Amino acid sequence: MTRDEIRAQLSYYQDLGVTEIYRRTPTSPPPPMPKPKPKAEPLPSLAPVGDTLIQILQDIGDDCRRCRLCEQRNKIVFGSGNEQSPLVFVGEGPGADEDEQGVPFIGRAGQLLTKMIDGTALKEGISITRNDVYICNVVKCRPPENRAPQPDEMEVCGQFLFRQLMAIKPKAICALGGTAAKALLGTKEGVTKLRGNWQTWHGIPLMVTYHPSYLLRPYSADAKRESWEDLKKLLHFVYD
Ligand code: URA
Repeated sequence: MTRDEIRAQLSYYQDLGVTEIYRRTPTSPPPPMPKPKPKAEPLPSLAPVGDTLIQILQDIGDDCRRCRLCEQRNKIVFGSGNEQSPLVFVGEGPGADEDEQGVPFIGRAGQLLTKMIDGTALKEGISITRNDVYICNVVKCRPPENRAPQPDEMEVCGQFLFRQLMAIKPKAICALGGTAAKALLGTKEGVTKLRGNWQTWHGIPLMVTYHPSYLLRPYSADAKRESWEDLKKLLHFVYD
């Protein structure tokens, strides 16, 4: 506005009887009205009533494509063992041998796990072998190069692990290694801190112990001893 225009405007106000005029101090624009939030829908039940392992397997399907792990896998490794077992072991994810055969823990780490279960049970006078327990993994497809499963892969496949555990409702769960502990307990705490003490997963006692592939490393003497201790505690709790 030019000075003359302002003058004209003021004399116009004067003619209207307006005798006072003030400048409004600039203010920041009012905050935008919050958009109405979509109403929270209840999460679909993760474990349908009367869920079964067969149903879960069917829901996964023969050619699951829910995450990138499908790209290089050969076989989906669902789980194996006694489907009514009071004890479930949860590992991280299939390795090369498991991917080839579709069965969890059959490679080197798996053979050690079998020895640990069978050997501890025998020594402790508990008449079970590996076939009496149920074994599965957090992710059902092999992560390439045996890398750790990524959070989104664990989340997608975690729904099936959740359902497996809910369907079996074991007396106790054993989380083998940090990935299983993280998936089941949602904690970043390491195995060293968690192991040896009872945790709980949805009211079910859970023991974290070292992953057998960690025990295959040459410098893990202490961890080996500790994992035998954990296993003894676990087997006595479940089978005594
Ligand atoms: N390591 C795992 O965590 N799971 C398997 O099935 C085999 C090796």
